[in-house]
Amino acid sequence: MHCREIPLTLWVLMFISTSETCTSRLHITAVEGEPFYLKYCSSSPEHEKKKNTIKWYKNESHGPVDLNLSSSPRILLRDYVLEFWPAELIDSGSYSFQMGNDTHDWKLNVIPRSKHSCFTEKLVMSKAVEVKKSLQIACEHSYYQQLANRTVLYKNCEKMENNQNPFLKNAEFKDQGYYTCVFFLHHNGKLFNVTKTFNITVVGDRSNILPVLLGPKINEVKVELGKDIELNCSALLNEKGVIYWNTWRKNGKDPNVHEGEVTRIRISEGKWLAFTILRIENINTRNLNFLYNCTAVNEGGIDTKSFILLRKEDVVDIPGHVFTGGMIAAVVVSVVAVCLVTVGVIYRVDLVLFYRRFMGRDETLTDGKTYDAFVSYLKECQPEHGEEHTFAVETLPRVLEKHFGYKLCIFERDVVPGGAVVDEIHSLIEKSRRLIIVLSQSYMSSEVRYELESGLHEALVERKIKIILIEFTPVGDFGFLPQSLNLLQSHRVLKWKADESLSYNSRFWKNLLYLMPAKAVKPYRDESEVLPVLLQS
Ligand SMILES: *[C@@H]1O[C@H](CO)[C@@H](O)[C@H](O)[C@H]1NC(C)=O
Ligand SMILES: *[C@@H]1O[C@H](CO)[C@@H](O)[C@H](O)[C@H]1NC(C)=O
Ligand SMILES: *[C@@H]1O[C@H](CO)[C@@H](O)[C@H](O)[C@H]1NC(C)=O
Ligand SMILES: *[C@@H]1O[C@H](CO)[C@@H](O)[C@H](O)[C@H]1NC(C)=O
Ligand SMILES: *[C@@H]1O[C@H](CO)[C@@H](O)[C@H](O)[C@H]1NC(C)=O
Ligand SMILES: *[C@@H]1O[C@H](CO)[C@@H](O)[C@H](O)[C@H]1NC(C)=O
Ligand SMILES: *[C@@H]1O[C@H](CO)[C@@H](O)[C@H](O)[C@H]1NC(C)=O
Ligand SMILES: *[C@@H]1O[C@H](CO)[C@@H](O)[C@H](O)[C@H]1NC(C)=O
Repeated sequence: MHCREIPLTLWVLMFISTSETCTSRLHITAVEGEPFYLKYCSSSPEHEKKKNTIKWYKNESHGPVDLNLSSSPRILLRDYVLEFWPAELIDSGSYSFQMGNDTHDWKLNVIPRSKHSCFTEKLVMSKAVEVKKSLQIACEHSYYQQLANRTVLYKNCEKMENNQNPFLKNAEFKDQGYYTCVFFLHHNGKLFNVTKTFNITVVGDRSNILPVLLGPKINEVKVELGKDIELNCSALLNEKGVIYWNTWRKNGKDPNVHEGEVTRIRISEGKWLAFTILRIENINTRNLNFLYNCTAVNEGGIDTKSFILLRKEDVVDIPGHVFTGGMIAAVVVSVVAVCLVTVGVIYRVDLVLFYRRFMGRDETLTDGKTYDAFVSYLKECQPEHGEEHTFAVETLPRVLEKHFGYKLCIFERDVVPGGAVVDEIHSLIEKSRRLIIVLSQSYMSSEVRYELESGLHEALVERKIKIILIEFTPVGDFGFLPQSLNLLQSHRVLKWKADESLSYNSRFWKNLLYLMPAKAVKPYRDESEVLPVLLQS
């Protein structure tokens, strides 16, 4: 089993604990010249810990080398922690921790210190703040806080005059920039510094987000005279948005038309799903062919949609032979149309993929986003979830990145350590064009829920990201997912079938490519190539 034993509790701890954060990610980046540490995330209960059996190794080209206090004056071992005072470029490589039967590996990449800047671009944490909302920069370090006897905040590498911590004010556009916290530490009589940098972008007022009505702009509804009907108009709004019906005629209102109350459901911070029902009782001919409009509006914009009632069967009175001939023609035409539509529906994915390849379409060039997709999956890594983890961390990147040339963001692999993980996830999702959710019964643990909700918010309210659900193991009941997921179209749910989805050419991957953004992809290799998906022993 490839999957490392990082129990979920530890992941949760990683997010909650503000004292000493452990390092469970495989790929870790550090900066030359700064103190750095690796800390094993211990899972065993206190009485089972065998601290005396702890061993640390570095994997050198000739094999693993035992790390101990005499290995290097810069390296300090403290049970679960390996400290570097400071990290140097030569420290890059694989490290292993061993205690009894527990092991953990990390791949450390030490990058050079920037010569022109007080921070390292690769390690900045991006955060968008709305103008006039509170901008807070807290210089806190989960590990070195106790040791730091001075903390200085720099903006764009210039020391800030007013050195309050946390730095707090109402955001203005001129506050945009790079904020670097420098923690000064003394160790063995030497002065070191650790930096943490936030890339703050000040964005316009989000309350100006346009209201959006869900569904098509014109809705034809087939009705029978004398019956009742309910029209549902639903919209995504901000706090100040309103939704209402316009049903007035020149000469007043139809007495059988009743507007319902507006129901609002909060789906995330400042964003609402609202709906209102128009009830038409005992439908008469006056109600037919009239546009019942529904409007959603706020100070930023307006959206309108219309419902029109049509009679269900408008029986036409025409001579017999004309009628028969007409019927035959109509039947033939509709059969052909149905066939064409069926072919179109069945091969829709292939047609679209063919068209994209043929036209060399690429919709990823100008949107300013970094990743094609953010992959959200169960980070709980117990043996029974191993396949799911392998699928997300290995199979998906192998197919989408290596074979089809997409760029994925996989938290465990691509995210640098330190700081505000939640903000980081949000900003990564903002930089991604799709959110791929690898779904299974055990998916909804607390920290992935955040990814999901953040993604849903982007998808439904800001219309910036599209969601792709991969049902990795049959889930059956989606009842445990947030209600707003039900608004997703059903074709965005793909089912993974381990035995049928192996080939690059299988329905599963084609459907996934179809849902991914069009991108000038690398040419297909051997079409019959079969993926070695089930690698495990
Ligand atoms: C932090 O330490 C590095 C050397 O490790 C030094 O070049 C840099 O000037 C220091 N930064 C500050 C703000 O003192
Ligand atoms: C250690 O290095 C060897 C050769 O460089 C490599 O084959 C092996 O996979 C590495 N082990 C780990 C745990 O990284
Ligand atoms: C410490 O590590 C060195 C190699 O880095 C090794 O030669 C030496 O035997 C180790 N000492 C102990 C006490 O393990
Ligand atoms: C460690 O592994 C050995 C052999 O695989 C096993 O006999 C032993 O019980 C294990 N110890 C623990 C603490 O799991
Ligand atoms: C900082 O954020 C801005 C706006 O989001 C982005 O354009 C820029 O690339 C970011 N800088 C770094 C170093 O990530
Ligand atoms: C910081 O630590 C140094 C050395 O331990 C000490 O001399 C200095 O007074 C400390 N400064 C503060 C503000 O505590
Ligand atoms: C109206 O539609 C919205 C979203 O499409 C849905 O959440 C709501 O339950 C519907 N209301 C009724 C009464 O059907
Ligand atoms: C509904 O909207 C259409 C155009 O969008 C307009 O012509 C019509 O008069 C509107 N109906 C009502 C009742 O406001």
